[in-house]
Amino acid sequence: MAFVYKADPVRGAEWARLFAAKAPDIPFHIWPDIGEPDRVRYLAAWVPPQDIERQFPNLELFFSTGAGIDQFDLTVLPPELPVVRMAEPGVVAGMVEYATMAVLALHRDLPTYIRQQREARWAAHRVYPASKRRVSVLGLGVLGCAVLDQLRTLGFQLAGWSRTRRQIDGVACYAGREELAAMLAGTDILVCLLPLTQETRGILDSKLFQHLPRGASLVHVGRGAHLDHQALLDALESGGLSSAVVDVTDPEPLPAGHPFWAHPKILLTPHIASMTQPETAVEQVLDNIRCHQAGAPLMGLVDRSRGY
Ligand code: NAP
Ligand code: GLV
Repeated sequence: MAFVYKADPVRGAEWARLFAAKAPDIPFHIWPDIGEPDRVRYLAAWVPPQDIERQFPNLELFFSTGAGIDQFDLTVLPPELPVVRMAEPGVVAGMVEYATMAVLALHRDLPTYIRQQREARWAAHRVYPASKRRVSVLGLGVLGCAVLDQLRTLGFQLAGWSRTRRQIDGVACYAGREELAAMLAGTDILVCLLPLTQETRGILDSKLFQHLPRGASLVHVGRGAHLDHQALLDALESGGLSSAVVDVTDPEPLPAGHPFWAHPKILLTPHIASMTQPETAVEQVLDNIRCHQAGAPLMGLVDRSRGY
C-alpha cells in the first residue's frame, strides 16, 4: 500500500517528513514520482490527475488537500471512490482567525480609517459595541460554525444560513432560499462561508445585496465564483454596501488593473484566509486511513450528490 501527494511540493516535503515519522509503514511519494502505480491506495491532491482510474487502478481513497472541492470536477473520479476533504483543525483555526479579524475590521471601521490615514485626516466616528452589531454567516458547516463560536465570545448578535435547518446556541438559524431574505434584512456584516456548488454560484449578486440594510458590509471567504464583481462595485458605489473584505476572486490571481486592487472600500487578500496545515492534516489523513481500514465512518467525507 502506498500514498501519493500531488499538490504544493514545499508542503509535500513536510507531509513526507510527517509520514516518515508517524506512518513509516506507508510508502509516501510526491507527484510526479508515483512509485509502483498498482500499489497506490491513497491519493491526496488539490486537483486530481487526468485519467485517475487508469493511472491508479487500486485507489481506495481520494483526499482533497483543501477544505473545498470545487477546484476539480467530481465526475472525473470513479463513482465509488470516497472523496475526503480537509476539515482539519489547522484549516479551521486559520479561518476562525481570518474571519474574526475581518469582522472586527469592519465592525471598527478599519477601511474608513485606512482611507483617512492616507489623506492625513484625523476624524473620529462613533464606536458601537459588538452587542449592537448583527453578523450573519452564509454556510453553517465546519468553518461557519467555528467562526460563529469565536464571534459569540465577542458579543455580536449572530445569525446563520444553511441548506438544511440547524440549531446553534446563540445563533438565529435560517434555512433555504425562502428564508435568506429575512436573515439579510437583519444583517450588518455578512460573512460568506459557503461551498461553491451549482446552487451557490453567483449568490453574492445585486439582488442579495439589495436585501441588506443600507451601509452593510461583506466578508467574502468562500469561493471567487460566489461573487458578482460588478454587483459589489455597484453596491459600494451607491452606498448600498459600505465596505468589503474579499479573500477569494474569480479569476485568481486577480488580473492587473482590476478595480478591486485599488478600491478604497475593499480590503483584498490573495486567497490566504486559511490553509491546510501539514501537521494536523497528516494527522487527520492517517486517522481516516485507519477508519477506512476498520470500516468506520470517515471525517470530512464529501457527499457527491450534494457537491460538498
Ligand atoms: P461544509 O462543512 O461542507 O459546510 C457547508 C455549509 O454550507 C453547510 O452548512 C451547508 O448547509 C451550507 N450550504 C451548502 N449549500 C447551500 C445552499 N445551496 N444553501 C444554503 N446553504 C448551503 O463546508 P466548510 O468546511 O464549512 O467550508 C466552506 C467553504 O469554505 C469551502 O467549501 C471552501 O469553499 C471555503 N474555504 C475557503 C478558504 C479560504 O482560504 N478562503 C479556506 C477553506 C475553505 P447544510 O448544513 O444544510 O449542509
Ligand atoms: C482553501 O481555500 C481550501 O479550500 O482549503
